[in-house]
Amino acid sequence: MKKIKGNKFSDLQHLLSIEEIDITLIKDIFKSADKFLKNNQSIEKYKILQGKTVCNLFFENSTRTQTTFEIAAKRLSADVINLDIATSSQSKGESIIDLINNLIAMGVNIFVVRHSKPGVPERIARNIKNKAHIINAGDGNRGHPTQALLDAYTIKSYKKSFDDLKVAIVGDIEHSRVAKSEIIILNKLGVKEVRVIGPESLMPSNISELNVRAFSNMNEGLEDVDAILMLRIQKERMRKDTVPSEKEYFKTYGLNEGRLKIAKNDCIILHPGPINRGVEIETLVADGSQSVILEQVKNGIGIRMAVMEKMTSL
Ligand code: CP
Repeated sequence: MKKIKGNKFSDLQHLLSIEEIDITLIKDIFKSADKFLKNNQSIEKYKILQGKTVCNLFFENSTRTQTTFEIAAKRLSADVINLDIATSSQSKGESIIDLINNLIAMGVNIFVVRHSKPGVPERIARNIKNKAHIINAGDGNRGHPTQALLDAYTIKSYKKSFDDLKVAIVGDIEHSRVAKSEIIILNKLGVKEVRVIGPESLMPSNISELNVRAFSNMNEGLEDVDAILMLRIQKERMRKDTVPSEKEYFKTYGLNEGRLKIAKNDCIILHPGPINRGVEIETLVADGSQSVILEQVKNGIGIRMAVMEKMTSL
């Protein structure tokens, strides 16, 4: 993060992790998102990124993040490139840094980068310095800062304040970049109790350092919580024998209507998606009245617009 003299915001040069942004900037992003999301009925276009180019570079698959970044950039009047990595010259051995430098030469101002290896967006940012902005759209199991922002924003829109909340994050904590960023943002926002629930095999080894209460028993962990964030099992990042069968997993850690009753009556259900119905969440709960899952997706557009707005001083 870089402070720019004479600018009324503490603007962002890059957004690489939730650790690096302070509470003032988080609240500032939420306020901007309010402005962008206030009108549900009609889609308003802003000239904030007119003349700028945003490039989506997704080395890992995505539906929500890539599409909402594209929509967000277009609503800010940017030109948008979705580079198809599979058909790009990466297959001929070009390095990521060379790829990025070529795209900067073409006039790209903001790169939205997703990669399976932790730290790739950070490495790119170190290399290119201030020639363009880098937004981390998920790096391996390390972090997903805009997802954490939109999840916290969604919780805020349903609850009076963070400081009396108990929030449970359930499932594959070890392999989830969402969980890692979520734990940090919820603590920064002053959430009373951040809980993590899951089997020991899916807990990070440094869990005791993360300022969370850890539970291996789902029913105990859900007691009295205000919000539940369910996670997909990240099979692509683990050995086959790390978890039991999907049926067994659902029996022990799946969120069903019965278990939901253990939480507070007005508890909300979040999930970053994609959902695996019948594995970590029952359809009745995913589509039920307490689910705010599609609200999260919609809020992702406003949050991503707000993040890119903070980068307009390039
Ligand atoms: N939440 C999220 O990152 O979803 P996608 O993988 O579809 O982008």
